[in-house]
Amino acid sequence: MTKKTVFSGLQPTGNVHIGNYLGALRNWVALQDTYDCIYCVVDLHAITVPLDPAEFHRDRLEAAKVLMAVGVDPEQSLFYFQSQVPQHTELAWMLGTITGTGQLNRMTQWKDKADVAGANLGLYSYPVLMAADILLFRADAVPVGEDQKQHLELTRDLALRFNSRFGEEFPIPDPIIPEHGARIMSLQDPTSKMSKSDPDEGSRILILDDPDTIRKRLKRAVTDSGRDVRHDWEEKPGVSNLIEMMALFTGGDIASIEDEYGDAGYGTFKDAVAEAVIEGLAPIRRAYRDLDDAEVARLMQRGTLDARTRAEGHQQRVRELMGF
Ligand code: AMP
Ligand code: TRP
Repeated sequence: MTKKTVFSGLQPTGNVHIGNYLGALRNWVALQDTYDCIYCVVDLHAITVPLDPAEFHRDRLEAAKVLMAVGVDPEQSLFYFQSQVPQHTELAWMLGTITGTGQLNRMTQWKDKADVAGANLGLYSYPVLMAADILLFRADAVPVGEDQKQHLELTRDLALRFNSRFGEEFPIPDPIIPEHGARIMSLQDPTSKMSKSDPDEGSRILILDDPDTIRKRLKRAVTDSGRDVRHDWEEKPGVSNLIEMMALFTGGDIASIEDEYGDAGYGTFKDAVAEAVIEGLAPIRRAYRDLDDAEVARLMQRGTLDARTRAEGHQQRVRELMGF
């Protein structure tokens, strides 16, 4: 039996945080044993916001390195930079011609950013490029956090539309969104998600943060009124966020955390969460230290060549179906 194909991407915009890890990257790693996995540093997506070329250049390699430290294994999975495989943008252009502007106008990420200075065509058509990433490799499943759900729906619509107009070619991909951890919230405002671009560094914990920084961030994390440690998103979003983090990092369940820390007080609980996060991230920090930049770059180059070959085979069929 042939294995199902999994595809996902991470933008090289720095600040890879525990939300990225718990919502998506942990799943990327876990899926490698069972599926044919393709993971991509989506650098073309990252240029839709203003950038400094030197910083961008560093962030690209850094993203690849962080993903390898987390456990993306280039021996097992196809792993490369999006920009090095031109079939992504070719397919994106083709899919753009069957994408309604009405549907793009409804994308929440676009609506959030459309009014800010610097909104541009790339940002608007970003979800079409994402659909192309996924469909280019005929992916069956896509591990992502909750915020990407709408983009996955667009991808499915485009696959169905292409298939009905030009012939059955694309599988309809399913999102893989974890039940817990798909939306880790900001430590400073537990009603909005933890984000790479939040100007307040205190709002997030980075995957590579050192133990002291993690302790400091958690001490300062916003909690709720009252003092009981109880999971309740309505009444206690701050504490609930910390409970989820602890459960995910220790593999424990929410009820037993409530039992253990219910009356311990926020201070004690936060210290325990900090130790759980530190311990959970320690292997990643160690792996990162052992990685060599030149070796990472070499592995990415090798991935590029394989990805191009595979993408070209698929893309040739799309060209034929469309009449080129
Ligand atoms: P990005 O930071 O946009 O490159 O996202 C990379 C992956 O992390 C995507 O699959 C996102 O859905 C996921 N992600 C981003 N922020 C969070 C968050 N706060 N909680 C859970 N998953 C997230
Ligand atoms: N849009 C995704 C994000 O911001 C990144 C991404 C680009 C992606 N292409 C993808 C994720 C394809 C999954 C599959 O996180």
